[in-house]
Amino acid sequence: MTTTALIVAAGKGERLGGGLPKQYRLLGGKPVLRRAIEALIGHRAIDAVRVVIGPGQQDLAAAALAGLDVGRPIEGGAERADSVRAGLAQLSGDAVLVHDAARPFCPPAVIDRLLPPLEFFDGAAPVLAVGDTLARATDTLGEPVDRTGMVRVQTPQAFRLDALRAAYAAWSGDAPTDETTVARAAGLKVATVQGDTALEKITEPADFERAEQWLASRLVARTGMGFD
Ligand code: CTP
Ligand code: MG
Repeated sequence: MTTTALIVAAGKGERLGGGLPKQYRLLGGKPVLRRAIEALIGHRAIDAVRVVIGPGQQDLAAAALAGLDVGRPIEGGAERADSVRAGLAQLSGDAVLVHDAARPFCPPAVIDRLLPPLEFFDGAAPVLAVGDTLARATDTLGEPVDRTGMVRVQTPQAFRLDALRAAYAAWSGDAPTDETTVARAAGLKVATVQGDTALEKITEPADFERAEQWLASRLVARTGMGFD
């Protein structure tokens, strides 16, 4: 089985703010996008890595990707799903791992868990159980929602390439935020595997701070030294 990782990095990072799109922000001295790629590129089950970037991000991408074996960046679109579609159109092989550039730390064990299910399923996604109370809310708290059986769905998400392409071709709903949404709508069977808190997406400023702290604590654990 040949597997390509497709990293979608064409967003603007509006919720994080700060001007520079979050995938190009430096996290412990390296762009978030570069960390996301480096976490996947060395894995023995991944044969190639391709990156989807935004129109006008060529220079930022060239700097962030310097020296990495990822081929030519693919130009994405206005919504995440447009970027995924543009990427899928350029790939070949049997399987694809679609991954958000905004998730800089992917443990290799998650990839180990994602690929074996493709023998029996069309796709597989890492999930985490919901630990907090769930409720609807506006300004004030509304109805609680039963969290039994609810999960948070992360990336990377693994799919048989032909099945995911067909699912995207059939999708007619609003902008989906991940592949499992599109796959389920097309009737694909998607396995769940254990996710990882290291895979948390950087969305808001607090997420970026958490990622910096996590990196710093890892550095201290390994070397006994932090960084300023
Ligand atoms: N993404 C993409 N193309 C888009 C929108 C998003 O490739 N048109 C990518 C982002 O770069 C990110 C991932 O999809 O790696 C998850 O999206 P999100 O967290 O929403 O990132 P942004 O869209 O950049 O952030 P925001 O929604 O806050 O603007
Ligand atoms: Mg977005």
